[in-house]
Amino acid sequence: MEKKIRLGINIDHVATLRNARNEDFPNLIDIVKILKKSKVDSVTVHLREDRRHIKDKDVIEIKKKNILPLNLEMAATKEMKEICIRQKPFACCIVPERREELTTEGGLDAKGQKNFLGNFLPAILERGIRASLFIDPDVQQIKTAKELGVNAVELHTGKYARLFKEGRFKGELRKILSAAKVCSDLGLECHAGHGLNFLNVTNISSIPEISELNIGHFLIANSIIFGLEETLKRLVKMVNYSGK
Ligand code: PXP
Repeated sequence: MEKKIRLGINIDHVATLRNARNEDFPNLIDIVKILKKSKVDSVTVHLREDRRHIKDKDVIEIKKKNILPLNLEMAATKEMKEICIRQKPFACCIVPERREELTTEGGLDAKGQKNFLGNFLPAILERGIRASLFIDPDVQQIKTAKELGVNAVELHTGKYARLFKEGRFKGELRKILSAAKVCSDLGLECHAGHGLNFLNVTNISSIPEISELNIGHFLIANSIIFGLEETLKRLVKMVNYSGK
């Protein structure tokens, strides 16, 4: 069977768990090795302004080990641009960022910030780093992305995922379908992500124009649930029968 879609995995929440104890466990490089073994195409990290999960040293190490192409998610700030230029990830995805938000809530207003982004992006693009904008499935935003010369857009599927839970996602899915078509007509690569899980992902992955998905929270949370049984089996056996 031919593989149709590239899968990027966001490991921010592995870092969240690691930071809870200030130790190097779980180790992010070990996780990237598992992603590679599992045929994942790229690893995504979001270096937030407050460094609440991913730290600067993680970006440096993941890039240095070069196990998988690195997709650096970041806000359009001077500090992040300098880090991006220094580390030269395979790709960089510009996301809106507010300090108080729990995750990236809503897409970037590329249209409203067109002049700013027009000055911000060239230094990244000129260095051969692939740039994408994380935007809502909105035709005007996509057209602006094209005018800004980025390689791709990532359509924010958060609203679709929320409406999916409520059983009323059809309208938002239609918006994503037509947005993906607009990208393809304009020659822009179309990616998608946010809130995707086993139940809602195939509606998105089956859209022909979408070439990449980025998934994080669900994958890590689900891995805890599935991995817990296996780990407990081993621990229960060990504490009950060791040394006897
Ligand atoms: N894509 C982008 C641009 C994101 O900011 C995020 C969240 O960090 C994701 C994808 C992944 O979203 P989730 O963690 O809900 O799968």
